Amino acid sequence: MTRSIRPLVAGNWKMNGLKADLGIAAAVAQGYGAGLKAAVDLAICPPATLLFTASAALIGSRIATGGQDCSVQPSGAFTGEISAAMLADAGATFCIVGHSERRTLHGETDATVKAKAVAARKALLVPIVCVGETREEREAGEALSVVRRQLEGSVPEGLDGASLVIAYEPVWAIGTGLTPTAADVAEMHASIRADLGRILGEAAAAGVRLLYGGSVKPSNAAELMNVPHVDGALVGGASLKAEDFLAIAQACA
Ligand code: 13P
Repeated sequence: MTRSIRPLVAGNWKMNGLKADLGIAAAVAQGYGAGLKAAVDLAICPPATLLFTASAALIGSRIATGGQDCSVQPSGAFTGEISAAMLADAGATFCIVGHSERRTLHGETDATVKAKAVAARKALLVPIVCVGETREEREAGEALSVVRRQLEGSVPEGLDGASLVIAYEPVWAIGTGLTPTAADVAEMHASIRADLGRILGEAAAAGVRLLYGGSVKPSNAAELMNVPHVDGALVGGASLKAEDFLAIAQACA
């Protein structure tokens, strides 16, 4: 953790969740007691169909919501797309951009991710920009340089520490149960902080929350969250269980 930064634990529900599953969000709100509230911010990024209802249900809980993606366009003839302003209008505070599933399955380039982050900021959302290397890239010793290239291409200039979140999610750790060693996470997060310093300036970079994501569970959260420059987690599968999500938040607190 970075002492001066309030940690954030965000749940990415991905393409999971029907109305009946909003009970998960309610249970998280129920378990987000005074001790946790004093120590850690929480956010839930449900599918877009649930965003309005989830946001309304979480009013008063101090749990934020976020979208999982947004259009680069502000409005218009873009069938099926959802603008950042629409997400904000539905109650979102955050928007995940450049998740590896979008980069891989939808061919999103760094330039696209940057345009989405800019669109998110225009709608006053805080973009959670995702970066991370593949297994092959790590084995080739290229993890740091790949992530540096992604940051240089995907992070808009001119943001301050409060208007940007970075999530380091090694592609090979997502949904696999595998995680990097604490030493590898430490090396990567320190490198990300330094890269952001060159992109945004030192003062802004020092305030950006750097989340780790990829198979975060209650059993490994404490170790991962104790790594320097890890300021929280972006949680996939375990965010669909209120108990697990809260246990991860507790590990951050
Ligand atoms: P898992 O926690 O299921 O590995 O997913 C991580 C992720 O992709 C969060 O965005």
